[in-house]
Amino acid sequence: MKTILFLLTFIALNAQATPFSDGNAKRGGELFEKYQCSSCHEARVGGDGSAIFTRADRTVHSADDLIVQMQRCSGAIGKQLTSQEKQDLAAWLNQRYYHFK
Ligand code: HEC
Repeated sequence: MKTILFLLTFIALNAQATPFSDGNAKRGGELFEKYQCSSCHEARVGGDGSAIFTRADRTVHSADDLIVQMQRCSGAIGKQLTSQEKQDLAAWLNQRYYHFK
């Protein structure tokens, strides 16, 4: 019995291990292009804009922050991301820059 409980706990914890596990990172990268997410970021930090995700004083410190900030950004250009798009974009950004567990 103890072994079964241990296994169930183990499986449950693992299922939680990756944020945005419903997201498709490849699709996220395509959406990032489609919505020209870098346009403002480039103007702000230069280069290809990706430094906005790695700067020392970045605003995103958790998986939840990431979703909130993407909503803010897409709202600024009048786009309403679907929840699947948010998962996809977040999966991609997390894989490349944030590495939240
Ligand atoms: C209208 C301009 C604009 C567009 C378009 C835009 N962003 Fe942003 N984004 C910003 C600004 C400005 C900041 C910095 C906010 C700050 O410093 O608090 C930012 C910051 C971010 C951050 C947080 C970086 C950090 O500090 O950790 C993420 C994540 C992000 N944007 C994602 C996106 C995604 C995804 C898209 C495309 C759907 C997008 N942005 C489109 C203006 C924009």
